[in-house]
Amino acid sequence: MRKLSETDVFDKTIALRVDLNVPVEDGKVLDDTRILAIIPTLKYLLDENAKVILISHFGRPEPGVIDSKFSLMPVAKRLGEIINQKVVLFTSIDEANFNSDISLIENIRFLPGELENDLELSNQLSNLADVYVFDAFGTSHRPHASTYGAIQASKASCAGLLLENETNALKKATDSQDSPILSIVGGSKVSSKLAAINSLSQISDDVITGGGITNTFLKAQGNNIGLSLCEDSMLNHAKELLETDKILLPEEVIVSKSIDSNEIRISKVNSVQDDEMILDQMLSPIAIKKITHAKKIIWNGPVGVFERQPFSEGTKDLANAIASSTAFSLAGGGETLLAIKMFIDKSNISYCSTGGGAFLEFIEGKELPSLSALGFKF
Ligand code: 3PG
Ligand code: MG
Repeated sequence: MRKLSETDVFDKTIALRVDLNVPVEDGKVLDDTRILAIIPTLKYLLDENAKVILISHFGRPEPGVIDSKFSLMPVAKRLGEIINQKVVLFTSIDEANFNSDISLIENIRFLPGELENDLELSNQLSNLADVYVFDAFGTSHRPHASTYGAIQASKASCAGLLLENETNALKKATDSQDSPILSIVGGSKVSSKLAAINSLSQISDDVITGGGITNTFLKAQGNNIGLSLCEDSMLNHAKELLETDKILLPEEVIVSKSIDSNEIRISKVNSVQDDEMILDQMLSPIAIKKITHAKKIIWNGPVGVFERQPFSEGTKDLANAIASSTAFSLAGGGETLLAIKMFIDKSNISYCSTGGGAFLEFIEGKELPSLSALGFKF
């Protein structure tokens, strides 16, 4: 893989693609782990007298629509506080310049063509600066214009220090095959996570599910899940995965009539009513046993809407159980990092990755497009 330390960046202009897709509420960054993670690369570049324009996505806005809900402004503010200087936020690529040492371009997913890896946008990004540095490990599984096309189109491109660090650490962690291996996959991105579970079930002894993924499995088993989040197009796939006998579903869930309500009920998984939705799940005795006996734990995604207190118990109990286990524990993803910050001491997790989906795909042994473009050998 082309490294930063082997690339001439002295006195150069740099386009630095990072993953600043952090949890934000009411304009405030709730967890800045992903922001802090890019500081070593920024410091290195500033020491080399380089000027940097940062590029990132934030959430999943509709391309072509500038929706302030998906603005990187709160991130620019938090980054400015961390580095103790104002970070200018350019609203477009055309407006971008190198007048300050560090600046940021508004959410790259506002632009049509980013998701399609559009050639014109890729060229535009690659022409922005002398060197294109890619440090967005969390987005390295997406073949988009800023994560793939721009790397290929650039005259000079290389991996940042975070990317180098993540790939080294995860490679080392996945080399050991101590078993039993337990995977825990939660969150709301059902279709992409079901694909991950498919591969993880081949390298794990058991897979504990959470969030929308649990709901989809429960429905596939024939349970009523009421108004719960679920992807119906994934039901057949879920049925196939259930046949592996490795999927460990909860026995009891927390339901409510609304996500904003404080009125909750503990329900057996087969007793959810039509007007209820599953918003959290209880850690079952068998799940606790699996966590206690595991030698390696791979964790991505919360099991409930943990940001809201009434639905936080399941994720909190899960985090505590993983923290107490003697297994080598790997955790990753934006929401997972926030849950770790909220509920446990980070030092009780063996390795925390800034990547969620990317972290899972790397562990599964998949080729990640950005890494391939940078010459990484899988
Ligand atoms: C993440 O949070 O997993 C990354 O930032 C990638 O986001 P995406 O799943 O919307 O591509
Ligand atoms: Mg995420």
